[in-house]
Amino acid sequence: MNEIAAAAWTTLMALPRPRLEELFAAAGRLEALSARLDLPGGGIRFDWSKTHLDAAHLAAFAQLAEAVDFAARREALFAGEAVNSTEGRAAEHTAQRGVGRDTSTEEAFALHLRTKSLVEAIHQGALGEVRHLIHVGIGGSALGPALAIDALARDGAMVDVHVVSNIDGCALEAAFAKCDPRTTLVAVASKTFTTTETMTNAQSALTWLGEGGVSDPYGQVIALTANPEKAVEWGVDETRVLPFPETVGGRYSLWSSIGFPVALALGWDEFAQLLAGAAAMDEHFLNTDGAANLPLRAAFADQLYVRLRGCQSRAVFAYDERLRLFPSYLQQLEMESNGKSVKLDGSPVDGPTAPVTWGGVGTDAQHAVFQLLHQGTGAVPVDFIAAIAPGDDLSPDHHRNLLANCFAQGAALMAGKEAKDAARSYPGDRPSATILLDELNAASLGALIAFHEHRTFANAVLMEINPFDQFGVELGKDIARSMLGGGARFDASTQALLAEAGIR
Ligand code: F6P
Repeated sequence: MNEIAAAAWTTLMALPRPRLEELFAAAGRLEALSARLDLPGGGIRFDWSKTHLDAAHLAAFAQLAEAVDFAARREALFAGEAVNSTEGRAAEHTAQRGVGRDTSTEEAFALHLRTKSLVEAIHQGALGEVRHLIHVGIGGSALGPALAIDALARDGAMVDVHVVSNIDGCALEAAFAKCDPRTTLVAVASKTFTTTETMTNAQSALTWLGEGGVSDPYGQVIALTANPEKAVEWGVDETRVLPFPETVGGRYSLWSSIGFPVALALGWDEFAQLLAGAAAMDEHFLNTDGAANLPLRAAFADQLYVRLRGCQSRAVFAYDERLRLFPSYLQQLEMESNGKSVKLDGSPVDGPTAPVTWGGVGTDAQHAVFQLLHQGTGAVPVDFIAAIAPGDDLSPDHHRNLLANCFAQGAALMAGKEAKDAARSYPGDRPSATILLDELNAASLGALIAFHEHRTFANAVLMEINPFDQFGVELGKDIARSMLGGGARFDASTQALLAEAGIR
């Protein structure tokens, strides 16, 4: 770490630690720590005033950002430089939204046109009657489409989509039970087109099509991949292979042809709105300096809790049923990106990196896990996400109650309450931030996801790590392969489990 960065961390560590109520005594705190961004899908209000960030933190974190060359690293990201240093690759997900170097945005535009044409051809009946799509993919090839469709297709979809990720056959069987093979397409979504789970599910889906009376099962398969040759080799017709660039990482790939099921379910225009919302957030992130940059400011709060206060987890509660899959989406984004132990130069990190991201949906979570948030032994910083406009047509009581509960939780975590009886006391001073959307729609969802992508990147820059590789997932995969394949021997416990389960 360079001397200026080290000095900024020293300053940050030494800052006083007033309670949240004391921080509110400072005039203008709410205005200083909240902001509204006007975006294509409506505004989003961000409120960090119930976190321990204050003017001194913002100044010291801004100094840290300068010391680690935040602006230059951000520039390199958007310029398509090889920011994924361990793999010698760029990370060009923003180019998929039209923000990035010209050659990459032009390529993305052309590939999107190809996806759009296929989506529209299917809608017009070019592949016969299509009522269902079974989308097989895992990790980044599944979580984004599942989230977007679950959030946005509540009023009905043009095609009924089932996202299947797990290699556990129960997952695929559940989808089969809801689909008719004669009117079902199968999308095989895999950046590498080699992932065991996806290829096993794809093979079984082909068999199901064949056994269901489809004379040409491959004729109903579409491939979404950065490895088109492999898809063709596997049997997919070239005209139904929708490629995306190698420089788009799996957990950042919703914006590429991996978004095909979203466009098929909602129509191309909605998918274009998703991209537009994300692009607006890209422009904000690229062109705003210092703490006014909202993903960067969110990263300041994250670093405060992870590095200055040693919080080992962070929780995200969507007070919106339509965003129930958002916490699991964020888990991959944040934990696969920043769960690292070495810095960019290969040396050990200077402190903890990604906390465990967890969460759920409000109000359900209030009746299950909030006890720990209010009275557990450690503070867990919480993000609340909600939308002002209701997603339902029922009595307004539902939504008023939902939002009141959301805001009540943040207020209660901060204020706490003393009681004579220790078991009935709340310590308070527990931090939360609120992200309040005017409404949830394709554009605001795009902006919300892009906000978190950039927040994750900003955290990585502050910690001087590479968020774009994921070597940590490889060892387990290798061992599983050798268990099924060869005569390798393992520890006594593992051997006994294998024998007991009759695997070998
Ligand atoms: O195992 C982790 C991972 O590589 C993720 O990063 C990725 O999103 C997922 O597997 C699926 O990979 P693919 O899209 O290549 O099938």
